[in-house]
Amino acid sequence: MLSAISTPLEQHRLVLKLRPLLTGQLFLATKLESPVFVWSGGLFNPVFQAGEIPNRERIRELLTEQIKEVYLYPADAKAISDQLEQTLIKVTRSLSVGDPKENGSRALKLMSLNLDSLYKNPHDDQLLMKQFQSSQNMAKFLIENKKIIPLFFKDIGKEKFHFTILQPMMSSMLLLGYLQSIHLFHEREIETLFLTSLMKDVGLGLIPEDKYDIKGLTHDEQVLFAHHAQFSYDILDGRIPLTKNQLSIIKHHHFLNDRLKRILNKEKPRAGEDGMMFGVESTMVAVADIIVAMTSNRPYRQGLSTYQSLELIRKMIGDEYPQEFRALVVFLKNFLK
Ligand SMILES: [Fe+2]
Repeated sequence: MLSAISTPLEQHRLVLKLRPLLTGQLFLATKLESPVFVWSGGLFNPVFQAGEIPNRERIRELLTEQIKEVYLYPADAKAISDQLEQTLIKVTRSLSVGDPKENGSRALKLMSLNLDSLYKNPHDDQLLMKQFQSSQNMAKFLIENKKIIPLFFKDIGKEKFHFTILQPMMSSMLLLGYLQSIHLFHEREIETLFLTSLMKDVGLGLIPEDKYDIKGLTHDEQVLFAHHAQFSYDILDGRIPLTKNQLSIIKHHHFLNDRLKRILNKEKPRAGEDGMMFGVESTMVAVADIIVAMTSNRPYRQGLSTYQSLELIRKMIGDEYPQEFRALVVFLKNFLK
């Protein structure tokens, strides 16, 4: 029987001691040294006790109840984080051994969990390197298994991760599938662009979490949010082996947003305002990101249909990249069916 911690002093002590972790990370827990808590009704309430291995069915129930984070004592949090790192590398190194659907799906979930840890600790070198290495392995695996990318894309989209995690995961898979379909890029280039796309949002880790889910951001908050691309650049520069071109794509991965805003607001560009376009690589990284963002639901709005999003993409890039746009329409028809 789990005993509640009810005195204000004990609750206050927990605030100082406990560490947040995504509920899904409990699947990686071995025997707990201390209890695990959820935050509800203004209190920490225990859900698993010391000495037990968290029951998988109960973890699923917590996820169904929309309990996205649990709180653990540091030793247990560290043990689970270590387990995640080891499992992530093991699984992404042996993706080709066994059932590719099962392996890929498991690896993508582990990468999503690791990305969440990276958002919480963007300056942790080990976490960053693990994300980078597993992304490299995942790129090679997806290139070899292109037929199941749409399945992975749909399945990860159904997971209960926050959209800041799903957004780079899904947009990078979409990008990789598209680049493969147009036969203009070598495998190595596709791998590089997949990696670039997957790492482009690590700067979101520097933005307070409570800002993600609200609609009416203040001007300063909007500016802060728009800065996440620059934050990503600052976090990644010199820490993992990315080329100048990759870093530049990351820094400018929202370069189409002003154009999109003007289209949505039916504004005409002022002279010289709309002339900046980047190369096809930057454009496709940005477009894949925008398609996933527009077609996904957010806590404050419904997603658009694929058709509606393509109509906007056409207005954004149709003049500069007519062939690529037509290829995108054909690709999405198959990819999202
Ligand atoms: Fe972004």
